[in-house]
Amino acid sequence: MKPSVQSILITESQIEKRVHELGKQISKDYDKSDLVLICVLKGAILFFADLIRTLAVPARYEFVQLASYHNDTKSSGVQMIQGLYQDLFRADVLIVEDIVDTGMTLDFLLNHIESFEPTSVKVCSLLDKPDRREVPVTIDYLGFKIPNSFVVGYGLDFAQHYRNLPYIGVLDGDSVALGS
Ligand code: PRP
Repeated sequence: MKPSVQSILITESQIEKRVHELGKQISKDYDKSDLVLICVLKGAILFFADLIRTLAVPARYEFVQLASYHNDTKSSGVQMIQGLYQDLFRADVLIVEDIVDTGMTLDFLLNHIESFEPTSVKVCSLLDKPDRREVPVTIDYLGFKIPNSFVVGYGLDFAQHYRNLPYIGVLDGDSVALGS
């Protein structure tokens, strides 16, 4: 049995309002830039699709797919499943994430993108869970800071489910711990 959504943490209208605010700020900051937005699959897809449609600048966009894994020895790693196709040399890159948790995915991606020698690299994340941070990373554009709860929806999953929910919900904690 899958765990159920216990409560709604961020509603659909709260997300919509914040996405428009972020889009307005990004449009202002990147006016006259060669902006390349990088969507980090799969989690960021809904946020990315909504965010880019609020932008008033003629941006390019790209997709990368990364997967993080954690094992018993507490060593962790990030694997690149799908890489970048466009040349990012001298581009103004904005990474778009759904959530920053330990910071390892973002740290990996930032190092990878720096190797293309872009003019700038910044980060936009819908959610930040600072209590879980293991690697320090800077989030330049943030939607919401959230507590250390297991959240799903608007791209975020539990065992690949719940990504399609239009809001951010908190899963029932006991069933998550049991992996049911
Ligand atoms: C999630 C999320 C971020 C990353 C954040 O991706 O989309 O990319 O974890 O966690 P971190 O800060 O601890 O690295 P995940 O690897 O679960 O893949 P997904 O996006 O396909 O769900």
